[in-house]
Amino acid sequence: MPPSSNSVLRVQSNFQFRCIACGDLSDRASQDFRCARCGDLLEITYPQWNEARPDPENLKSFWRSRHVSNDPIDLSGVWRFRELLPALRDDQPIITLREGNTPLYDLPRCARITGVPRLFAKHQGTNPTGSFKDCGMTVAATFARSAGFRWVACASTGNTSASMAAYAARGGMRSLVLVPEGKISWSKLSQALDYGAVTCQLRTDFDGCLRLLQELVLRAPVYQLNSINPFRLEGQKTLALELLEQLDWQPPDHIIVPGGNLGNSSAIGKALREMRDLKLISRMPKLSVIQAEGANALVRTLREADGKRLISVQPETRATAIRIGNPASWKKAVAVVNATGGTCEQVSEFEIAQAKAEIGAEGLGCEPASAVTLAGLKKLVKQNFVQPEETVVLVLTGNLLKDPDYTIEFHRGDLLPASAGSSTAAMNNLRRPPIVLDATLDAVIRTLEQAEKS
Ligand code: F0G
Repeated sequence: MPPSSNSVLRVQSNFQFRCIACGDLSDRASQDFRCARCGDLLEITYPQWNEARPDPENLKSFWRSRHVSNDPIDLSGVWRFRELLPALRDDQPIITLREGNTPLYDLPRCARITGVPRLFAKHQGTNPTGSFKDCGMTVAATFARSAGFRWVACASTGNTSASMAAYAARGGMRSLVLVPEGKISWSKLSQALDYGAVTCQLRTDFDGCLRLLQELVLRAPVYQLNSINPFRLEGQKTLALELLEQLDWQPPDHIIVPGGNLGNSSAIGKALREMRDLKLISRMPKLSVIQAEGANALVRTLREADGKRLISVQPETRATAIRIGNPASWKKAVAVVNATGGTCEQVSEFEIAQAKAEIGAEGLGCEPASAVTLAGLKKLVKQNFVQPEETVVLVLTGNLLKDPDYTIEFHRGDLLPASAGSSTAAMNNLRRPPIVLDATLDAVIRTLEQAEKS
């Protein structure tokens, strides 16, 4: 039997839910994941760390030793860090696609462009469904199934829905996807369809989809897998654990992340705080959030309201993954930006397109929303917020193949109007439009010679 719509999600073990506003602690959460007292968002907390804090050196050596294990729970780059996650019951199987374990690349070309030699990319686009969402989904889907839910649901700009549909399918659950009609990429939509989700294209934007989902979960026995769900953020938190392990636990000076609904920045910030409290690291990197100019709710909230109240915007950007005007986790994000001494910046459509092509030219590529990180870094260097000798990590959240239309339009020169600066020499140098030729050796050799000269 599915749980009834007013059933609660009970804590089974090592964690509690804590309200981020009033601090109320509870071992239960209602299905909208809001505080029963004040209605704000919940986060997961581990009370036993106050009494018996895990030994940091033991943790590091456990986690490292699991790299050579063939146990599915160790092969997951998320569950490998399970000492810092909600505990599973002994008989509770995980739903995993071997998420995490994402590479940390150097970026020599972008390092030259920005003047920051120690520049790295943590590429979450190499996850099984092509985005960072998988790291959160393995945890939240596992807890959804163990709470007895048959249906999971999300509102999405595309990546969450692709990931949720995959993990639901692997876990034997049904999934319901709410996406804004015409405003997500076909690749992401096609993933949800192929993984068997019931996919509804709603005539609204992402914020409208999320509002509807919040009402739906109070009426129907579906478990919501948006990043309001604090189990999602626990899984996404492991990005930062894995990053620090890859850097031999030497914190970088800056971590730069795109901001949409602001779950991921909140999750990374939580991990940094916990790593510092558990003495896994001695200082926290500055966490900075970059948004598209047309979807800049956090930027405006910090600049115009000192982070005290949300300033919503009517979102518009070709980086559709972050086309969000009313970010749910804005309070969590404000807290982590302030706690780490980071900042928040916005970048134009032109800057996003250029940065995306520059990351592509590294042989890596990413989706447009991820490229805001490089575009933002350029601005932060100009403002002297980032110094040339500092170590910087960009979080690339999604795979290049997530939005091929954007990439093709860029290379053909159709993406942005000329007034947006799309025909500057710098942009033209990055363009590699496909060349249609007669099928002759001469034509190909001539093309090769011309390319050699350019
Ligand atoms: N980058 C990509 C590729 C994303 O898909 C998203 C969010 C973000 C960045 C922003 O992360 O919301 O945690 O601040 N995508 C969501 C979705 C909203 O539905 O797929 P955030």
